[in-house]
Amino acid sequence: MTTPGPAVGVLRETAAGERRVALTPDGVTRLLKVGATVAVEAGAGGSAWFPDAAYAAAGARVVDRHTLGATCDVLVCVHAPADRGELQEGQILLGLLAPLTDPQLARELAEAKVTAISLDGLPRTLSSAQSVDVLTSQANVAGYKAALVAADTFGGFFPMLMTAAGTVRPAAVLVVGAGVAGLQAIGTARRLGAVVTGYDVRDAARADVASTGATFLDLGLVSAAGEGGYARELTDAEHTAQQDAMVHAVGTFDVVITTAQVPGRRPPVLVSAAAVAGMRPGSVVVDLAAGPLGGNVEGTVADTTVITAGGVTLVGAGNLPSAMPQAASTAYSRNVAALLAHLVHDGQVQLDQGDLITAGVLVTRDGAVVHPAVLALTQEDPS
Ligand code: NAI
Repeated sequence: MTTPGPAVGVLRETAAGERRVALTPDGVTRLLKVGATVAVEAGAGGSAWFPDAAYAAAGARVVDRHTLGATCDVLVCVHAPADRGELQEGQILLGLLAPLTDPQLARELAEAKVTAISLDGLPRTLSSAQSVDVLTSQANVAGYKAALVAADTFGGFFPMLMTAAGTVRPAAVLVVGAGVAGLQAIGTARRLGAVVTGYDVRDAARADVASTGATFLDLGLVSAAGEGGYARELTDAEHTAQQDAMVHAVGTFDVVITTAQVPGRRPPVLVSAAAVAGMRPGSVVVDLAAGPLGGNVEGTVADTTVITAGGVTLVGAGNLPSAMPQAASTAYSRNVAALLAHLVHDGQVQLDQGDLITAGVLVTRDGAVVHPAVLALTQEDPS
């Protein structure tokens, strides 16, 4: 007889505007195969077009939020729930908890003796972690959607067109930040027919940009590769040199899509107000990094579109994966199911900190913050 597995509960998201769900009916099927039982909060998948009936058909119980909290060992979510009072001591909360930008949440969960597992801590270059990598799966969706938002907002065509009324030149698109989202935005803009240029501060990104068929924008700056394939934060002098070089470059493009991030830090401002002022009327900027901490473009506001006095439309993209909730939830759910399959042994979630994946994602355990980077932050700022 197989040992019964953990009871996994799927929370309905509480964050404003969030349409994703952490586990889809397909994810339920995957978890049942590893011996888990699954309960879903009523309506959890509704905004992503996964009705309660589809969860029930896949073998999940559909319950209210209180029952979910009271009966599950593991609660899965995209963002931490606003009403954390429902969380029980000893329960596991698994989602995108962003402990490097929100160490206070990690502290709270530790105090409540909730075990926090945050998918954004995954060691991404580890090949065994690829099936679990939500940052990649969600950035892919965001990059794709950013190119579509840019094309939709731009008042001209992306492709070159030869019509009876004459030839239309293709749009010139610059994608700043050639990580996962940036490369997907480059590929999508190219498929729409634009002439695309990519830029990144890491030298390794040159080959990635070239492999998509786009041109690399060389600003003549030193490479700023950091650890784990990420960029490091630039020094003030490097940052100023980059912004200055960008002022000259940006004005030659019709569309600029920015995706530059440094983990756990405020996104760098790469396109200054002066650079935006140098763009032609009708140009479009989509700032995928725009969020509560700011964005890559001076003047963008998350989830808001602003038209400057010079006629440049600045789109603060905000949460683009939520704008494609079906695709984003499907990918997220596969990542969650793969992580739980990795962690469940003999019917229990086993958290072996000697395992690189576990060590990367485990934030709190037994009433304490255990992730070294988060621990350093909580000690730095004990408020
Ligand atoms: P990210 O979302 O942290 O940042 C996006 C891009 O912005 C990065 O390419 C970064 O270099 C760039 N950036 C940061 N500061 C910049 C600045 N001042 N100017 C210009 N660009 C700047 O990165 P993402 O997309 O999460 O990828 C991070 C790294 O992880 C990449 O090297 C990627 O190839 C690697 N990766 C590797 C995987 C694997 O080996 N399986 C899976 C996923 C990602």
